[in-house]
Amino acid sequence: MSNNNHVCSHDHAKWLDNDFRRMLQNPRKMFSPWIQPGMTILDIGCGPGSFTLNMAEMTGPQGKVIAIDIQEQMLELTRKKLEKAGMLERVKLHRCSGNSLDIDTKADFILTFFMVHEVPDPNSLIDQICSLLSKGGYYFLAEPIFHVSTEQFEKVLARCRSNGLTLIRQYGLISRYAVFQKSL
Ligand SMILES: C[S@@+](CC[C@H](N)C(=O)[O-])C[C@H]1O[C@@H](n2cnc3c(N)ncnc32)[C@H](O)[C@@H]1O
Repeated sequence: MSNNNHVCSHDHAKWLDNDFRRMLQNPRKMFSPWIQPGMTILDIGCGPGSFTLNMAEMTGPQGKVIAIDIQEQMLELTRKKLEKAGMLERVKLHRCSGNSLDIDTKADFILTFFMVHEVPDPNSLIDQICSLLSKGGYYFLAEPIFHVSTEQFEKVLARCRSNGLTLIRQYGLISRYAVFQKSL
């Protein structure tokens, strides 16, 4: 599976984490059909925490979020954002290596927002995501249309299907979105 294999630098954090973007890509609108209070959530490639805080609010005090990134600087931006909001205790920050997520926590909701195309081996990432997803859990995939062709996106969808996930929603005009569920 081909990919752009270019990791978005932490210097670009302000282009990711801002109110204008959250207006266009409103986390509550996008995620509320899938996130329930008490869920365990993985935010893989969390970047500066663009959606981490909102998901921590949505899962509530009984839930938890694990924010994962390969860049320490991105995790530090996420940490600062959560600390400012008094939500740090609800989120675990986890630095992974490029090849493995280095985690074995099962999750009810997994998000990869604009990150799969940056990974050298998307098939391996998708396999890990599918094994970390709890039965009945949801995987939300978002990719930027300008960096990811229809063919590339379809290959990721096919890999999810070959891991036994069911596509339950696909939409998007300037971004490509797909939601999968793991059967019970
Ligand atoms: C374009 S940013 C998106 C950040 C965030 N999800 C958002 O939508 O604002 C992609 C993020 O994925 C991270 N990333 C890239 N490759 C990764 C990998 N193999 N494992 C974990 N994170 C990775 C980058 O460090 C970067 O923070």
